[in-house]
Amino acid sequence: MALRAVVKKATSPIGVGYRGLQTVALPDLSYDYGALEPAISGEIMQIHHQKHHQTYISNYNKALDQLHDATQKGDANSVVKLQSAIKFNGGGHVNHSIFWKNLAPTREGGGEPPKGSLGGAIETHFASLEALIQKMNAEGAAVQGSGWVWLGLDKELKRLVVETTSNQDPLVTKGASLVPLLGIDVWEHAYYLQYKNVRPDYLKNVWKVMNWKYASDVYEKECP
Ligand SMILES: [Fe+2]
Repeated sequence: MALRAVVKKATSPIGVGYRGLQTVALPDLSYDYGALEPAISGEIMQIHHQKHHQTYISNYNKALDQLHDATQKGDANSVVKLQSAIKFNGGGHVNHSIFWKNLAPTREGGGEPPKGSLGGAIETHFASLEALIQKMNAEGAAVQGSGWVWLGLDKELKRLVVETTSNQDPLVTKGASLVPLLGIDVWEHAYYLQYKNVRPDYLKNVWKVMNWKYASDVYEKECP
């Protein structure tokens, strides 16, 4: 009896945070796959959304299911073993869900510079929008292998930051107070079919369909 109580107590931190098996689903895009052309081809968007993002979701849900079993059994070894799959696939879902909202067709405002308080904050922290874009393009081009380049808000310091993350690590892995405003996927699957190995050309063109309104809305909500 005493042993059972100890085991229950030892596994409870995971159980407390676990609110049942809540799986995730592929979010719809608010635009057609071909609507970002010529900056990003419809073929890339369709495969990226339907295949790559869906695979992260399927694997994340599978890992959640396995985590549920492991926690039910008090199998700490399996719980720990699942963390990398949860981080990678859960991160893939989190990052891509933001990425789709970061993009917009030009007829719906894609590429229009940020207005309001975000526009002013960019000038304060980076001197100009062009300087920020150059910085993000340089850092995005320099990511070794696969990853992301982010414009984020540090909620504690109330300042904008540019960060990169590897693989599918979300921005929050670089700091608990960081909120993503814009994330650019620099995995080859995001551009290879159209831009081949020339990542800088993809980075140059993705700004033509950047949805600054989304970034502004997040900024104003998080930094009123
Ligand atoms: Fe991606």
